[in-house]
Amino acid sequence: MDARCWIAIFCTVSLCSFSTAWLYPCKRYGFGSYTIMKQCTLEKVFINQETALYRVFFPPVDLAIYSGYIPSFNEAVAERLSNKTKRLSIMFCGVEDVFLKDTLKSVDLRFNLLSKVQFRSAKALQIWTLHLDYNLLRDASFVQNMEALVILTLSNNIISTLSWNTFRRLRKLVTLNIGGNLIKSIDSEADFKLPALKRLELAENRMEYFELSRLNFQAVRELNVSSNQLLSVNMFHFGRTFPALESVDINHNPWNCGRKHRLEDRMDLKGIRNEKSQIPPRISCHENKLETVALTTPEEVDEITHNFRQLEYVYADQLSGNEAKQRLAMAEERISYLMYDLNATDVAVQKLKQKASHLFQLYNLRTTSRNFNMPS
Ligand SMILES: *[C@@H]1O[C@H](CO)[C@@H](O)[C@H](O)[C@H]1NC(C)=O
Ligand SMILES: *[C@@H]1O[C@H](CO)[C@@H](O)[C@H](O)[C@H]1NC(C)=O
Ligand SMILES: *[C@@H]1O[C@H](CO)[C@@H](O)[C@H](O)[C@H]1NC(C)=O
Repeated sequence: MDARCWIAIFCTVSLCSFSTAWLYPCKRYGFGSYTIMKQCTLEKVFINQETALYRVFFPPVDLAIYSGYIPSFNEAVAERLSNKTKRLSIMFCGVEDVFLKDTLKSVDLRFNLLSKVQFRSAKALQIWTLHLDYNLLRDASFVQNMEALVILTLSNNIISTLSWNTFRRLRKLVTLNIGGNLIKSIDSEADFKLPALKRLELAENRMEYFELSRLNFQAVRELNVSSNQLLSVNMFHFGRTFPALESVDINHNPWNCGRKHRLEDRMDLKGIRNEKSQIPPRISCHENKLETVALTTPEEVDEITHNFRQLEYVYADQLSGNEAKQRLAMAEERISYLMYDLNATDVAVQKLKQKASHLFQLYNLRTTSRNFNMPS
């Protein structure tokens, strides 16, 4: 907080002392997105515990507060907002905790010091756009019942642990940005879907591993995993999880060269745009054959695992069939699936054997060449 703030707090307090009701004056009017009336920009809004709130009134239009100091935008302060204010932006005001009013539709609280978000009931909230980037949030679980959300951005906070299940109920979510946090991995229970999600930003985290085996992002078109710690991704699950992908940013990861090329070939084949970085990375991948082999699981293994899981549905269908003929047909279908999977298992075992012998050879070569260089 700079000196200007303190002066203005002083002014606010003295202003309040000689006027009964104090309406924040609009510095500028622009066009609001929701109200027919205009959007009002407020400056130097200072609200602290000593502010006599019953005298404070915000104008009944969309509000943008770009300077001031409001460490606690609590329920009492939120109640001073008009029901007509649908869009609220508060930036650079040192907000540490906020109360979201039920009547708001769009909230932008970027560049504050937020660590706590409160509301009466998540189900009653109408907010569909929520921007909370550049704050001090450690946890994203407060969003889990905000079912109206379409755009959610939580980038550049200090979130380190996250589960996909946090977003399970957000069936309308189209954009999710959780870049610039401290996330190492995101876990999920059972099969996880976000049916409407089109854009997923995970850049600038610490992910060493992108666990995809239980995810299904059928509508995601844009994916950004740049500036993480990824060496490799599982190709089978990558293809299965993101069937509608149009563009991916994979720059600035310590990729294994063999694995990266494989991923790029796959993207080429599927017509997925491989976004180039504006600042090209100094090293685009690391050459390590031993690692390449070790990081390659035969895709058949993942496919079989997936198939076996699917087989349970066929089994359930078989049991629920009424007629004997129908049940028999389902049984035959199961047998043919099993035959296919048995063959695939065989192929996978052969590949694993090859891989093991390849690894063995590489390892032997390495130790022998090292021995060669050793002075006797
Ligand atoms: C404002 O909205 C709340 C919640 O929707 C409602 O309970 C309240 O009566 C409204 N106030 C006015 C003045 O319309
Ligand atoms: C991916 O995210 C990074 C970091 O936020 C950004 O610099 C980059 O432009 C993004 N890539 C694309 C294709 O938008
Ligand atoms: C087993 O799988 C391989 C490779 O997928 C295929 O070429 C072969 O024809 C299959 N054999 C049988 C008996 O299905």
